[in-house]
Amino acid sequence: MPRFSSSISSLRSSEIRDLMKLVTRPGIISFAGGMPDNDLFPISEVDELFGRLDVLKKQQAFQYGPTPGLPSLLESLGEFLAARGLPTERERLMITTGSQQAISILARAFLDPGDRVLVENPCFIGALSAFKSCQAELTGLSVDKEGISIGDLDVEANSTDPAKLLYITPYFHNPGGILYSMERKRRLVETLAWKDIVLIEDDAYGELYFYEEDKPHLKPIKAENPEGLDVCYTGSFSKILGPGLRLGWLLASEEIYERCELIKQSYDACSPSFTQVIADEFIRSGQIFPYMERVRTEYRKRALLMGDILEATLPTDVAWTRPRGGFYIWLALPEHIDASEVLELSLEDGVVFVIGKTFDPQGRRNNTLRLSYCNTDASQIERGIPIIASAIKKVMNRY
Ligand SMILES: Cc1ncc(COP(=O)(O)O)c(C=O)c1O
Repeated sequence: MPRFSSSISSLRSSEIRDLMKLVTRPGIISFAGGMPDNDLFPISEVDELFGRLDVLKKQQAFQYGPTPGLPSLLESLGEFLAARGLPTERERLMITTGSQQAISILARAFLDPGDRVLVENPCFIGALSAFKSCQAELTGLSVDKEGISIGDLDVEANSTDPAKLLYITPYFHNPGGILYSMERKRRLVETLAWKDIVLIEDDAYGELYFYEEDKPHLKPIKAENPEGLDVCYTGSFSKILGPGLRLGWLLASEEIYERCELIKQSYDACSPSFTQVIADEFIRSGQIFPYMERVRTEYRKRALLMGDILEATLPTDVAWTRPRGGFYIWLALPEHIDASEVLELSLEDGVVFVIGKTFDPQGRRNNTLRLSYCNTDASQIERGIPIIASAIKKVMNRY
């Protein structure tokens, strides 16, 4: 028997990835995945962009590049992020292989076995895996519709065994769908100031807002760079261009950046030059702006439709909120209801989603579930949601 490392023993296969195998069953309606709709990818735009490049650029696309990213993309992305108020001049920007890699690098930079990490409960599963693979101890803090519980955070921030990191997804949370209020972010910063807990601010979905009036709420904490708090900001091209590019980014202070660059060298030397060239051209040509507008409009339409059908079909004791951006709606069933039973019934009728336990750092709470509207068209939403609502009612009637 090969002697595997102890650090991988705590990893379990992602239930989402396992579900993806089911999703390929013909005819199944999937509200499970968090991936953009294939039909929305900017294929012809990118075809044309690449075709227009000169030979030198195309050669660069096939070549290794610098570990922190191609200078041209660092410049164009830097300007793109600066427009959101991010301090790309004062701090250091690094291109990563998806923002998943940015989170993994940060985990590696800070965590020794047994170190504590504070996460939201529910929490993005990729972040949970990154922290677990460093053998960290995870503590989930509850989340309501304005963000993480400040009461819970205050207790942890003053603990005698302080955590090293706090990981949050304040902008259209995965899986919770919520957008943090400005007040909650202000109190979070106040609570963490001078506590020596590094904040990872994951902004994978911030550009997918549905309502212009929410823009002030989308200003990252990193844009304030508050005194007494190290903020590491991560983002991604996955939802605003395509996850197949495998490109994300990390914005951090010089000190943190330097450690992260060393780690990235050991992971993959550099992120794909090919897709960095494409992403750079996509920004420089200005195409990224109409494209983001197009996807916002489409996802908003789907979110509204799913919301209308949920409103019409769900029992009133199921709690949920209409999303204001992103990909997800989170349902909380009454405490005694097990979402796995709902999934079993829904699957019989050809509909799949992800049960809440997947996103619980302790893998316990299971009266919740996540519905994605990103990868289903109107007719699938119209057919699939009533099936889930009816499965919920059937399971609730059992108890
Ligand atoms: C909250 C969140 N962060 C990060 C990621 C990682 O995305 P990627 O590695 O494709 O950039 C995802 C992917 O779904 C996500 O939902």
